[in-house]
Amino acid sequence: MPEILTFKDGRDGQSFEAPIEDDSIRATALKPAGLVSYDPAFLNTASVRSAITYIDGDAGILRYRGYPIEQLAESATYLEVAYLLIHGELPTQEQLAHWADDITMHTFLHENVKRLMEGFRYDAHPMGMLVSVTAALSTFYPEAQDVDDETIRMQQVVRLIAKVPTIAAWSYRHSKGLPYVYPDNDLGFAANFLSMMFRMGEPHYHADPALERALEVLFILHADHEQNCSANVMRSIGSSKADPYVSLAGAAAALYGPLHGGANEAVLRMLVEIGSAKNVPAFIDRVKSGEGRLMGFGHRVYKNYDPRARIIKQTADDVFEVTGRNKLLDIALELEKIALEDEYFVSRKLYPNVDFYSGLIYQALGLPTALFPVMFAIPRTAGWLAQWLEGVQDPEQKIARPRQIYTGAAERDFVAIDSRRATAASTS
Ligand code: CMC
Repeated sequence: MPEILTFKDGRDGQSFEAPIEDDSIRATALKPAGLVSYDPAFLNTASVRSAITYIDGDAGILRYRGYPIEQLAESATYLEVAYLLIHGELPTQEQLAHWADDITMHTFLHENVKRLMEGFRYDAHPMGMLVSVTAALSTFYPEAQDVDDETIRMQQVVRLIAKVPTIAAWSYRHSKGLPYVYPDNDLGFAANFLSMMFRMGEPHYHADPALERALEVLFILHADHEQNCSANVMRSIGSSKADPYVSLAGAAAALYGPLHGGANEAVLRMLVEIGSAKNVPAFIDRVKSGEGRLMGFGHRVYKNYDPRARIIKQTADDVFEVTGRNKLLDIALELEKIALEDEYFVSRKLYPNVDFYSGLIYQALGLPTALFPVMFAIPRTAGWLAQWLEGVQDPEQKIARPRQIYTGAAERDFVAIDSRRATAASTS
């Protein structure tokens, strides 16, 4: 059978052919028929060819570079996973040692960045700080603009993976009015982050090993998720050959929204608002009648249990063993139980996603709610950079520039200001 899609234009009976490759046709195949494809939220549009992350949403499968997420969460460290995403293969002992050294050496921020952060209001949202400060890093490393130079590209990749946790921790310290804690180069990635967050007078901060491992697991689970909203922004900004700092600031801004990485924060606020497991049925009824959404539920791609949510639930148990059970867990479990049985959620294939339980863990670790999306951004930095690197090296990459279907006024003559009459549009 020829790998060709033939379609007929009903307006004039003309037939057109579109070659099929990898179960897809090029939207430009519609051009000879004078048509464009219209897909406002990319519901059925592949924007790239990518070898990084594989998701089968119906089967609940997630793999980075072919490795199942369950195996990585069980056996890998976050830095191994970051290496895997960036370089395409798991590192050898020697490669990992070199990579970890390189990242560790770049965790410090320029003192001017510190002063910049000190200028934020005491109650600045840490995500707003992260977006601003990552963009500002562009001005500290102007050579980063040379995105066609491989050595320069890799230098910025290391800097960003290393520095984002420092910015994140300092945004937390800032919100608490606490002195910023410099990185401790004797510690691993997650342990150093916990030290920058929580160290007080002691010379070295010793994190509980169970909590450190839980954080590694959360970082691994959030490291990449193929062409989601923020990855798409990262690639889109990168397609203009902007440097990775400003591209990543844009991606982080996309992550901030409550429908994306801000959902973990929204889940916690929702659980607090529900207040008690007995109020869950009434809350579910409100969601079903269109009054808001059940945050942490549903996903554009997963139409099955999000595999990350399954692992997180297990991680939550490990964390609660150290910190004590989070009281909001009972409300979350009740919500999940009722929603998984309810026809509204079942028929729409709405299952818990990665954000449903992650907030409970962050809260048990002592993190304020506003920091939750930042906790998502720390590990996603590796994924964004892997997506950016793949994009800038893709021979098919051109500046992202969608088409539109124009719905505005037809041509009309300019009206002098004295002769204009107010219309509904101009008064609103
Ligand atoms: N609660 C109640 N109803 C929902 C929900 C929800 N969480 N999610 C989707 N629906 C309904 C929606 O109202 C619609 O119903 P109908 O067909 O009657 O109009 C149907 O399910 C399909 O929803 P959609 O908005 O077309 O789905 P989408 O693919 O555009 O949205 C989503 C995906 C994740 C934005 C959405 O499920 C949502 O808003 N979830 C809550 C926010 C959330 O948890 N986001 C985190 C996503 S996972 C982390 C990440 O990758 O960023």
